Amino acid sequence: MQDSETIGQIDDTPIARAAQAAVQAIGRAGEGLPRPAATRVIVVANQKGGVGKTTTTVNLAASLAMHGLRVLVVDLDPQGNASTALGIDHHAEVPSVYDVLVEGKPLADVVQPVVDVEGLFCVPATIDLAGAEIELVSLVARESRLQRAIAAYEQPLDYVLIDCPPSLGLLTVNALVAGREVLIPIQCEYYALEGLGQLLRNVELVRAHLNPALHVSTILLTMYDARTRLAAQVAEEVRTHFPQEVLSTAIPRSVRISEAPSYGQTVLTYDPGSTGALSYLEAARELGLRAAAVGGGPLLGQQRHGSGTGHGAPVAQHGTTEGHR
Ligand SMILES: Nc1ncnc2c1ncn2[C@@H]1O[C@H](COP(=O)(O)OP(=O)(O)OP(=O)(O)O)[C@@H](O)[C@H]1O
Ligand SMILES: [Mg+2]
Repeated sequence: MQDSETIGQIDDTPIARAAQAAVQAIGRAGEGLPRPAATRVIVVANQKGGVGKTTTTVNLAASLAMHGLRVLVVDLDPQGNASTALGIDHHAEVPSVYDVLVEGKPLADVVQPVVDVEGLFCVPATIDLAGAEIELVSLVARESRLQRAIAAYEQPLDYVLIDCPPSLGLLTVNALVAGREVLIPIQCEYYALEGLGQLLRNVELVRAHLNPALHVSTILLTMYDARTRLAAQVAEEVRTHFPQEVLSTAIPRSVRISEAPSYGQTVLTYDPGSTGALSYLEAARELGLRAAAVGGGPLLGQQRHGSGTGHGAPVAQHGTTEGHR
């Protein structure tokens, strides 16, 4: 028989801790979140590359679905990373978001269910999409083709998350016209805020001319490394600039998060008890509970970002507005 001290030691092994975390994660996932009154279409955008847009899109989407909601991921990046991470085949012949945008195919013809996660669906992107930026230019209503396709989709959805490419071209403009909310992932590193001014100005332009409901609703800190002072400084600075928009949950740097896509999985199914999975579940919870507060929130004002941001990373003052001509 084991005495209580031994049992205490067993409970404290890494495996026991992981098991406990997994139980906690599964428990929380089962709790459910309020169903939004109308479909929340969220554009995950940041023209800076590699900040965690795709990782955030797929893991938040899976978390929301695990909370009992119906969620669609639209992969709007020719790289097709979101499709890969959700285990969706996206070789050149697969019907994809390209067919929707350029050929006018209904969304329903290209939507695929995600195998491991009930309630989660994906519109894949194939390499064809690389040409779409140019092909769209000459098409009628080139900025609102995705918006029309989503509006015409008849299946009930609680959330649509759109994973944008790292640019501000016509694909991203299509996402900004289709969505009501913008979610900006910000990587906790030195140049974190560089280029943010340009993104915000594009959001403002689209809001002014094409989509009055559009606003930046959410900012998520990604790849947060609690051991470095720089991460803490960047996080603090972002929170000072965007006190209402930043989720209190920051996503830690986690090997599990980066490994999951190579198995065609989100971290939620790959390692449900990991800190990465727990943090995305928590971020999704925050996002979901904010639903009531959503609707016409103030657009992030340029005057709040015009004066540089320290860390040698001033917000860009000038930028083109590609796609708005
Ligand atoms: N929290 C994290 N911990 C560790 N690695 C991460 C984390 N988040 C993202 N990564 C890794 O960082 C890289 C960039 O992430 P991701 O592809 O999500 O960025 P992105 O903004 O979509 O990039 P792109 O601009 O190319 O579309 C990927 O290799 C991903 O696995
Ligand atoms: Mg990406």
